[in-house]
Amino acid sequence: MNYHDHYQQALHHPQQFWQEQASQLAWYKFPQQIVSSDETAPDWFADGQLNISYLALDFHVEQGRGEQTAIFYDSPVTGVKQAYSYAELKDQVARFAGVLKKQGVQKGDTVVIYMPMIPQAAIAMLAVARLGAIHSIVFGGFAAHELAIRIDDAKPKVIISASHGIEVTRLIPYKPLLDKALQKASHKPECSIIYQRQVAPELQVEAQLQPGRDLDWDSAMQHATDADPVPVNSADPLYILYTSGTTGKPKGVVRDTGGYAVALHYSMSAIYNCHAGDVIFTASDVGWVVGHSYIVYGPLLAGCSTVLYEGKPVFTPDAGAFWRVCQDYKVKAIFAAPTAFRAIRKEDPEAALLEQYDLSVLETLFMAGERLDPPTYQWASDKLKRPVIDHWWQTESGWPIAANLTGIERLPVKPGSATVPVPGYDIQVLDDSGGPVKNGEQGNIAIKLPLPPGCLTTIWNNPARYQSGYLRQFPGFYASGDGGYKDEDGYIFIMGRTDDVINVAGHRLSTGEMEEVVASHPAVAECCVVAKQDSLKGQQPVGLVIMKNGIDMSAEQLQQELVALVREHIGALACFKIAVPVKRLPKTRSGKILRKIVRSIVDGEDYQVPSTIDDPDSLKEIEAALENTG
Ligand code: COA
Ligand code: AMP
Repeated sequence: MNYHDHYQQALHHPQQFWQEQASQLAWYKFPQQIVSSDETAPDWFADGQLNISYLALDFHVEQGRGEQTAIFYDSPVTGVKQAYSYAELKDQVARFAGVLKKQGVQKGDTVVIYMPMIPQAAIAMLAVARLGAIHSIVFGGFAAHELAIRIDDAKPKVIISASHGIEVTRLIPYKPLLDKALQKASHKPECSIIYQRQVAPELQVEAQLQPGRDLDWDSAMQHATDADPVPVNSADPLYILYTSGTTGKPKGVVRDTGGYAVALHYSMSAIYNCHAGDVIFTASDVGWVVGHSYIVYGPLLAGCSTVLYEGKPVFTPDAGAFWRVCQDYKVKAIFAAPTAFRAIRKEDPEAALLEQYDLSVLETLFMAGERLDPPTYQWASDKLKRPVIDHWWQTESGWPIAANLTGIERLPVKPGSATVPVPGYDIQVLDDSGGPVKNGEQGNIAIKLPLPPGCLTTIWNNPARYQSGYLRQFPGFYASGDGGYKDEDGYIFIMGRTDDVINVAGHRLSTGEMEEVVASHPAVAECCVVAKQDSLKGQQPVGLVIMKNGIDMSAEQLQQELVALVREHIGALACFKIAVPVKRLPKTRSGKILRKIVRSIVDGEDYQVPSTIDDPDSLKEIEAALENTG
């Protein structure tokens, strides 16, 4: 079948289509009900029972793939390389599930994981899933305050962490950050399990364990017995993953088990053309959805070998790092954020380092996480001389919404486009009142309900936010928060967010959250944070700040303190480095900040002064303030 037939089948015969995909997995109880009739919250495979950890590990061992590598751990920051076969990984996961079980973790309990990119992070995820419990991973770049917010919302029974992470050469002591978060949080988990990393002496940090609360991973493993997989219902949550919304409070996206397993398994072959025995290298972090889906669950469900890479695209040690990984592990598909390739291009514009490596097995380069700008597409495509595939998705969807389905039919690429809707997704472009727009015209990207399997089922502890955040704006549709257009061939172009979410180096962040932090500084009367275009990281936050009357503080001092405050509250990954004092902010007569205009000014673009503006002089003042600060 070609792409068109495949897509039409999923659109018009979803029951048969998804039943066929579900039949590729070894369920404990195969579902008789494929999808419920509730379009806004469809229950996928409601009466099916499965365990995703079993499907990702035990199943492959039973099929005779026990000796095949499941995870290649490659850590240029420590010099460590390790391969875990499916049989070894299964044993480690079963044993660690035994550790968790001994601590009382059961089906339905929540467990927070705050770890660097080490195999124990994947082992922890799969062990939680083995017990039918729900994991919630917090990305290591988030500060203690952010971790505390997530602990209070997820209310974990146990937290799993590690002594430290390593960012190029800087050591990140995770355990003290965890201790600080636990002090701040109102919810107190019963225990923490800490993995003490054993690395070279100059990279070593010994975490201090608190007797009675903290357990050492290694000694707990020695005293535990293996735990078997626990069957769960398809709709039972597998994980909660917090993502930035427009307010200061992150949203806990809830993922089901069965729908997700079916969707990921399908995507591994249909989109990535990866099958049992193939090697996929996804250069992300287990703290992001990309890491959940295509470092851990997707590749393992498909019986692939996955590369877990603890390093950067550049400086660990150079811009040839990705090519070296592709050569060393015979990588067939690589997946990364465009920022990574912009960083490689900056360091090695002619891609001279590429010549040093044998990439004969590499077939395709996939990019997502942010818009793939045509110049980066062109560079990667020219240098690699292989298909470069942009694809669009979100934490909420859990797997690609628009892509070029290389495993079904590779369509011609149009630079700037994520290609076509993935089977299961009916993508439409709507105007602000919910009407369709013409091909080529920009609008709001929406998905007609019901969403296919694998997508979010609700927001943890806050189903009303699911309704108000995604379903209310356009009745009958899921509002993606992205804007863009469809061309006459049905190709989808995603141009950027329509809300206050920004994307810095492929990391999704909320300007609303940054504003809350900046506004909490005693010298700040009012502020506005917007994104400025950045040639490396895509976007970079910029704060415009009105100081309180009577405050005697230099602009430099204010900026320094605000930068430190955002780093302390949100984390280094926010990359908040610019805060400019201004006298006024442009507002409508009803008091709403004209953010679109502020964004244009920050980017040095032309703009039209709207008739609703209260104080047109504020615009010139902002231009001058930005010019003064360079
Ligand atoms: N733990 C602790 N700190 C972290 C971290 C982690 N896991 N990840 C990032 N940080 C810190 C960095 O050390 C840096 O701190 P600094 O301001 O003190 O230097 C800050 O957060 C910003 O990090 P980053 O955005 O990664 O910038 P960088 O300058 O260190 O690296 C790139 C630039 C382009 C190499 C890097 O951004 C990159 O690899 N981008 C691709 C992102 C990606 O894969 N995203 C996946 C989403 S699909
Ligand atoms: P996250 O939830 O962190 O995966 O971020 C999702 C957001 O990243 C989307 O809503 C988009 O704004 C952006 N994004 C992801 N992939 C793409 C892409 N291929 N093209 C354009 N934007 C993208």
